[in-house]
Amino acid sequence: MSDQSPVSSTQVVATDDVAEIAGTLTGGGLVALPTETVYGLAARAEDPDAVAAVFEAKGRPQDNPLIVHCSDAEQAFSLVTDIPDWAGRLAETFWPGPLTMVFHSAVEWPWVQAGHTTLAVRVPEPEYLRSVIRQAGPLAAPSANRSGAPSPTTPAHVLADLGGVIPMLVDGGPCDRGLESTVVDCTGIAPIVLRPGPVTTSDLVAALAGTAAGEHGRTGVGVSPGTRHQHYRPRARVMLVETLEGAELSGRTMVLGPAWGTEGIAFPDGVEVRTWTTVEEAARMLYAWLREADDLGLDRVIVVPPPEKGMGVAVMNRLRKAAAED
Ligand code: TXA
Ligand code: MG
Repeated sequence: MSDQSPVSSTQVVATDDVAEIAGTLTGGGLVALPTETVYGLAARAEDPDAVAAVFEAKGRPQDNPLIVHCSDAEQAFSLVTDIPDWAGRLAETFWPGPLTMVFHSAVEWPWVQAGHTTLAVRVPEPEYLRSVIRQAGPLAAPSANRSGAPSPTTPAHVLADLGGVIPMLVDGGPCDRGLESTVVDCTGIAPIVLRPGPVTTSDLVAALAGTAAGEHGRTGVGVSPGTRHQHYRPRARVMLVETLEGAELSGRTMVLGPAWGTEGIAFPDGVEVRTWTTVEEAARMLYAWLREADDLGLDRVIVVPPPEKGMGVAVMNRLRKAAAED
């Protein structure tokens, strides 16, 4: 049974209300909850009606499969087949944590797989969430935004998109990482990164040293089915610039950049300036800033992006989508 009709209000609970959260999920209800990356909109993966309600609430295209969140590697690996030894190494190194691995599926959950024969699994970091999963079973959970909006990284973001539409929200404060997990295709002889994220390519290469995939050389780069769809696009126009010198800063504008890239610049009145000192901070705050630009009714977001290495690869991937350059 699922709870597909809009609810009059969304109940807000705390991360230690594990039994209540699990109860809503086992009753077929949807729960928005914090992971270490972004807020997810969770349903029991085995419940076709509840998972259908997730697609409905988000306005998500039917051909975009969901990630199944598991309590531990054993549970995750029980749902998939043809697991290479090197994928076991990745699980040991990065789980629990922000890595999603795609394998051939051992289960038939077409409502989760959305037309694919593979299944994406991950073990999230927060302890409360793994307790919920131990009680309620594996959870299918996309990011808890309306499809096409930036992923939510605070409870307020979730309420802005889905308040009154979903029965329950778990308030765990802002998310640690702020960008979605790294998605890696593990169906070939070496991993292929389908979506860059907090686990970087050099993290993967270091973990694979000495394995068959490590011998094979570099990990490849591919694309997730979801990357075909419009993503992460605020209403404000996002523009990437190398430097602010000479940039047109008038109008209703937000400027995002490293602290050192904005020093000594005389910003006209009304320009909103947000800066970071580390790329991790840029990742953590990016979606909140893009949402803030829209809340303030700004026309443009001008970004001096971080170098495209380490976590900067994931930040640039999201920025390019926000700027609709690809
Ligand atoms: O950090 C995250 O991954 C967050 C939190 C909530 O866990 N979840 C998330 O889910 O970002 P979503 O649905 O917004 O993005 C999932 C991505 C999409 O790009 C989707 O296409 C890809 O994972 N994906 C899911 N299943 C897949 C599969 N079987 N093969 C390839 N890509 C898959
Ligand atoms: Mg998403």
